[in-house]
Amino acid sequence: MPKLDKVGSHIGMASMKESRQKTSFRFLNHPHIRHLPIIFLLLISGWKGTTALSVNDAAPKYISAVGDPGMRRDALRVAIESWNQCNEVGEEAPSMGSPRAADCFDIYKASPKTNDSRCSLCKLLPYILVHRVTEDDNRLGLGDPFPGGHLAEAGLDVNHYAVLKELYLGAKCQVEDTPSPWHFWMVMLKSGNMDTFAAKCPRNGHRVGPLGPDASFPCFGKGCMNQPLMYHDYTTLQGPNLTTLKGRFYGSWDLDSNSGSSSISSNSSYSSSFYEVTWKKELGKGSWVFHHVLRTSTKYPWLMLYLRSDVTSGFSGGYHYPTRGMSKIIPQSPNFKVRFTLNVIRGGGPNSQFYLMDMGSCWKNNGLPCDGDVTSDVTRYSEMIINPNTTAWCHPDNLNVCPPYHMFPNGTRVHRNETSKFPYGAYHLYCSPGNADHLEAPYSLCDPYSNPQPQEIVQILPHPVWGEYGYPTRQGQGWVGDPRTWELDVGRLSQSLYFYQDSGTPPARRQWMSIDLGTEIFKDPDQVAEWTVSDFDILVQQK
Ligand SMILES: *[C@@H]1O[C@H](CO)[C@@H](O)[C@H](O)[C@H]1NC(C)=O
Ligand SMILES: *[C@@H]1O[C@H](CO)[C@@H](O)[C@H](O)[C@H]1NC(C)=O
Ligand SMILES: *[C@@H]1O[C@H](CO)[C@@H](O)[C@H](O)[C@H]1NC(C)=O
Ligand SMILES: *[C@@H]1O[C@H](CO)[C@@H](O)[C@H](O)[C@H]1NC(C)=O
Ligand SMILES: *[C@@H]1O[C@H](CO)[C@@H](O)[C@H](O)[C@H]1NC(C)=O
Ligand SMILES: *[C@@H]1O[C@H](CO)[C@@H](O)[C@H](O)[C@H]1NC(C)=O
Repeated sequence: MPKLDKVGSHIGMASMKESRQKTSFRFLNHPHIRHLPIIFLLLISGWKGTTALSVNDAAPKYISAVGDPGMRRDALRVAIESWNQCNEVGEEAPSMGSPRAADCFDIYKASPKTNDSRCSLCKLLPYILVHRVTEDDNRLGLGDPFPGGHLAEAGLDVNHYAVLKELYLGAKCQVEDTPSPWHFWMVMLKSGNMDTFAAKCPRNGHRVGPLGPDASFPCFGKGCMNQPLMYHDYTTLQGPNLTTLKGRFYGSWDLDSNSGSSSISSNSSYSSSFYEVTWKKELGKGSWVFHHVLRTSTKYPWLMLYLRSDVTSGFSGGYHYPTRGMSKIIPQSPNFKVRFTLNVIRGGGPNSQFYLMDMGSCWKNNGLPCDGDVTSDVTRYSEMIINPNTTAWCHPDNLNVCPPYHMFPNGTRVHRNETSKFPYGAYHLYCSPGNADHLEAPYSLCDPYSNPQPQEIVQILPHPVWGEYGYPTRQGQGWVGDPRTWELDVGRLSQSLYFYQDSGTPPARRQWMSIDLGTEIFKDPDQVAEWTVSDFDILVQQK
């Protein structure tokens, strides 16, 4: 009998160590780069590397903040979650369970007992994937007790049940690591439909009764805030040599179109809403490639699909419940960078707000961290939209959607009324939190319903002012036909952005609990977006 070697963890450990070494490098755009030729000379003339490197001690060193730096670990951890308009469940889709699921596995290889080099069969011994999350786990829904849990937990409401399910899946997927264990990459789905008569979403964190019709929110009638169908192909080894790892989540919000998983397809003859995330990797080589498809429909014209790196505990961006995720260190402005490869294949139409970088945090208007009180917590979002169809709404005649000031990399602040200096073209939209007491007029308040708490949003566009941070400077960069590997100085950029705070309060620590990529197709039916993400990493400066 061959014995089983757990290679998942070995491969994982090896590749993690390797990437740690790779990622704790010094960034090439640092001023100290000019010393490099000297260092090379010293090395060539026989100096010890350590001595030469000490020349560079002042340069910042970076380490990865994510559990799987660069998406290189074969033994994948990925999960999916789905939110309604105000980031809750509301109601589970029939037979789907609570909208949380995961695909987490380790890899084992059968190896022969003997060392016989003539054992030609040995090469053919297969790798075996051992999945940590079963189909029964993934279908758990309100009323089902968690295996090994307390029966009472099953009786919670649907929103709390989903939170516990995420924690349960997190425990099954958890990978031990320093400075903290981690869980999974998170695929996030959201539908913007809102039934204003159903009174499901609070306004700026306060419960409200049924509202009249509101044309700003799509809804086809009762039940329009439903959760999607969620199907899953578990990761398996595929390809002629069984060395390609591949799996997917997919489904549709159009419940009436459901006649089983095989009826749902990305085929253009399928006109219902659709989402799909397929992950693929060659065993032992390169990065996972996450391939995304999102299609809107008449009934579901406002849909979102993101790949997120959320914190491993605490609240993630836009969420007032404990979460599980990939960011074992919370990146904090200004000292972190984000690296990834993005290939936008189909843009999703003129209203696809494709976020090159979407980041979520939370702090109160007095600068204190959020504590779960949805009336005083404020979600803060910053997003760069790279769809060239998205224009700057901020301009000299429309100051209410411009932030009060722009800060240049040298620290100089320019007020939005200084028309000759303010970079209006760099801002699509800025909106203020609905619970701020001292807003500078004119202002525009953010949508009070689409988060459990009030929110503040800064949406930026490719523009020369962001070039300093490695962001696109011209519309079209990184868009369809221009796949790129980005290394964005997200930390410094997000430190320079305006966010509201009550005057005289100590500045908030800008910690970004969610860093994600993906698109929000905004009220535009029958549009299809398609893109891939690979090599994702968050690099934080080592203290
Ligand atoms: C297998 O072979 C290697 C090198 O050929 C040797 O060092 C090792 O002891 C052998 N192991 C066994 C179990 O025979
Ligand atoms: C399968 O293995 C053979 C022999 O090692 C190799 O030549 C071929 O490229 C492999 N194919 C794939 C798709 O990896
Ligand atoms: C899409 O579906 C139609 C009808 O089922 C089929 O004829 C066609 O080949 C499919 N196209 C693709 C690209 O799969
Ligand atoms: C969107 O951008 C594309 C490419 O620049 C252009 O052809 C198209 O007309 C634009 N559509 C709208 C609605 O602006
Ligand atoms: C800071 O940068 C801005 C924009 O490049 C420039 O206009 C301004 O003169 C600079 N200020 C200082 C003090 O260097
Ligand atoms: C511009 O805004 C600042 C700050 O609100 C104000 O002090 C100044 O008077 C304004 N200037 C003009 C020309 O409106």
